[in-house]
Amino acid sequence: MTNTLRLGVNIDHVATVRNARGGNVPDPVRAAKLAEEAGADGITAHLREDRRHIADADIDALMEALSVPLNFEMAATPEMQQIALRHKPHAVCIVPEKREERTTEGGLEVAREENQLAHYIAPLRDAGCRVSIFIAADQRQIEAAHRIGAQVIELHTGAYCDAHAEGDLKTRDAELEKLRAMSTFAHSLGLEVHAGHGLTYDCVQPVAAFPEVMELNIGHFLIGEAIFRGLTPAIHEMRRLMDAARA
Ligand code: PXP
Repeated sequence: MTNTLRLGVNIDHVATVRNARGGNVPDPVRAAKLAEEAGADGITAHLREDRRHIADADIDALMEALSVPLNFEMAATPEMQQIALRHKPHAVCIVPEKREERTTEGGLEVAREENQLAHYIAPLRDAGCRVSIFIAADQRQIEAAHRIGAQVIELHTGAYCDAHAEGDLKTRDAELEKLRAMSTFAHSLGLEVHAGHGLTYDCVQPVAAFPEVMELNIGHFLIGEAIFRGLTPAIHEMRRLMDAARA
């Protein structure tokens, strides 16, 4: 197993700030290029059904501008499938989406919608996209993701990060243990393992230390931290912490 851990920088919330005023600034594509120069191994963007942050034109521009792979996050809808098939990004990450939620709250219910999802992702795989499924650290969901033919799973780290932030150490440790065990399990099935959601400088290292985890996708904290220290130093510090945890 190679020991390099990739960092995918999610630039959705640069678009959130832009959209607060409805103009063109700050430009998420400029942030993505800067992240790339700062050492991001990939850029992640979530085109939500309600377009509350990233817009269709951002995806067009990212596909045009990026030298690193784009991880295109999307709900399993016919509209998003068409957009993904038009662009054929390096990776497509299927996430659950509810209009009323503030952020992606849980993992995808793969086990319950196995047949539908298998049909849904087949054309994406055929088009050459690496298909990733965003799920909770739950053996049933991982087995289902494997059965439907996903190449990658991304484990939802939100519950672990929330417990860490709240100082609930018992829950934090239990969630971390689930993430550890399920990373090993998913890897044993031949799935590539990614992780993300809610990661900060304070809680990234225990997850970064799991040898099976190949990629972390981090957005909200990095964009927030960029306000104080700038995007490049913010990314450098995350990279340093990830590398230190891996070593
Ligand atoms: N991974 C997935 C699948 C996500 O949906 C998100 C949030 O859009 C992230 C990672 C990044 O989470 P955060 O913005 O909390 O770092």
